[in-house]
Amino acid sequence: MLPAIGVAIRRENRIVFDDESLNALEITFERADDPLRTYRYIGETRDFDYVSVHGLKLSVGSPDEPSKHYMDMMLDVAQENGAVSLSDHLGFTRDSNQGTEMGHFALVPLTEPALDVVCRNVEIAMAHFAPLHFFIENIAYVCKFGGTLEEADFISRMLDRTGVGWLLDVTNVYANGTNYNYDPYEFIRRVAPHASRVQMHLAGGYFDKEVDMYLDSHSHPIPDPIWDLYKFAIEQNKGKVDCVFIERDQNFPEEAEWRAELKKMRQIAEQVEGVGSVEVSQ
Ligand SMILES: [Fe+2]
Repeated sequence: MLPAIGVAIRRENRIVFDDESLNALEITFERADDPLRTYRYIGETRDFDYVSVHGLKLSVGSPDEPSKHYMDMMLDVAQENGAVSLSDHLGFTRDSNQGTEMGHFALVPLTEPALDVVCRNVEIAMAHFAPLHFFIENIAYVCKFGGTLEEADFISRMLDRTGVGWLLDVTNVYANGTNYNYDPYEFIRRVAPHASRVQMHLAGGYFDKEVDMYLDSHSHPIPDPIWDLYKFAIEQNKGKVDCVFIERDQNFPEEAEWRAELKKMRQIAEQVEGVGSVEVSQ
């Protein structure tokens, strides 16, 4: 199965919405324009095979249940745009629904109680969004709480218990592997068998010598090590990857670079899936 090839919609990449490699879009819920329909972006010139709505603040790692109001709003955007799926992150952005909002997600403590809370909240969201599919993304983090579980096991058990889809952010695995000294290939190899359905994110970050960390800044071209890891991730999840998206939020490239990355993303997927006759561009 060839995954749909997409970008996370930004004003700066509307210039490539006619690209022949592109057949999917991801709408970041917190950035969705008003009116929200994707045809506003593309001038009603074409349909896309796959549209997904990506939230930032569902906060499935909070001890409270997810906000019904937030889920309703995400679902409204999804339905208005003909989306087939929704997603958010494995993390928490606030301590409770009426509590302190951090503005960005942090990794949950990797413990059995946190796993129970996450699974309960994911199941609530899945039931709310059904029959649309729901995916949870592995995040990049700059600090970790103490815990008793390895992240790969935490995610694997969450996937097993809930049946939620895995939004595999390839760059986040690479960043965490670099920053916390583990093998990103082994991480993907361990989690992949537990995922029934997969989406992916690809982005380019950079290594910041001052903080001695690889930062998932969505600010650079996708580098070769992440293309290689992407190919491996497609191989490990062969036949069950619904869609792959490029994320870019800073230092926006020229049109040619957008198109070259989309083409390469499609060519690698075609190569792994054995579709078409492709030669991967360098
Ligand atoms: Fe991502």
